[in-house]
Amino acid sequence: MFAQLQPVATDPILGLMAAYKEDTNPNKVDLGVGVYKDGQGHTAVLKCVKEAEALRLKNEDSKTYIGMAGDLGFNNHIEKLALGVGHKALLANRITTAHTPGGTGALRVAAEFIKKANPNATIWVTSPTWANHISMFKAAGLNVKEYTYYDYATKGLNEEAMFADLATVPAGDVVLVHACCHNPSGMDLTFAQWQRFTDIANERGFTPLVDMAYQGFGSGLDEDAKGLRYLADNVEEMLLCSSCSKNFGLYRERIGAVSIMSADSKVMEITRVNLLSVVRSIYSMPPAHGAIVVANILDSTELTALWHQELAEMRDRINNYRQLIIDKLAGEGVQQDFSFITRQHGMFSFLGIDKAQIARLRSEFSIYMVDSSRVSIAGLNHSNIDYFAKSVATVLQG
Ligand code: LMR
Repeated sequence: MFAQLQPVATDPILGLMAAYKEDTNPNKVDLGVGVYKDGQGHTAVLKCVKEAEALRLKNEDSKTYIGMAGDLGFNNHIEKLALGVGHKALLANRITTAHTPGGTGALRVAAEFIKKANPNATIWVTSPTWANHISMFKAAGLNVKEYTYYDYATKGLNEEAMFADLATVPAGDVVLVHACCHNPSGMDLTFAQWQRFTDIANERGFTPLVDMAYQGFGSGLDEDAKGLRYLADNVEEMLLCSSCSKNFGLYRERIGAVSIMSADSKVMEITRVNLLSVVRSIYSMPPAHGAIVVANILDSTELTALWHQELAEMRDRINNYRQLIIDKLAGEGVQQDFSFITRQHGMFSFLGIDKAQIARLRSEFSIYMVDSSRVSIAGLNHSNIDYFAKSVATVLQG
């Protein structure tokens, strides 16, 4: 039976990670996968995580099963982190959360849950979006459609076309929206656009699914959640997938959460048991480690303060490099306008260069970025920014 299988294309992002690893060029630059690197090019374990792990080792007294919803303390914290303490939906007991193996696990559980709630639902994703959104939703058996989002010509949001597309979404469908730090473009909705999005969701009767993989990487923890909080204030139902991979640097521990907001606490209870049955049928229950580490941090005022500081350092380093890229490219005599880079947020930017230039950067200079020209800005540092700017200038000159 296995001999009948056909080869499958490598994932565009993870494939790049493997190719970079194998490259022996000492000047190679990794701008591929969305993983934070410090000024030395290293992805260190956060200090707050180290301390929380020591606490966990000391306090853990059992390895018994954790339950389908995962760690309830973590779930409580993650809801407040996203929605703010005292959010009306939390007070009204309208939200149920399960901690999941990473943000990807959250999205897959959400997809299976949607399929259960409405087998005919189509899920609409931004054009473009994180490539794995589309393959994962299709694998879960959902129809997937794209709505206009990024405008490659203006290097901004194509607002009118986006809202025109959203105005055609039928009731019962689901629309995925990125909470902040849009992956791959870095171009986020303004608050006014969140308000307009909310109005259309209510007019049309579609259900929003907010994907928040980068809370704290844009402007700050609360600022990055402002749009989704407005949405949650004004719609009856919503799904939220969050991830602790980037903001807690817990990538390989696989820790995320799916939260579902229902119209009232009665529907929430039915939602909760359905959500848990989805979890049970996929992986039964999530691994505990990452959730307890995060809960230990958020249970402690000192560790939370340390986390805020470490998160701000990561965010500021990326934001400073946005301006530095523009300055360095100008310094190399590049005429094109790259000022849009500072209008984008989070881990990524679209450079807006073409596929041939991207391929040349990889083959001649060992500079790795996704084929869409998405760069993970944290891959740049003092040792490689000049080499990067020179190489980009060379390929732009043809
Ligand atoms: C990315 O977009 O680079 C990250 O979310 C990592 C991944 O799994 O693709």
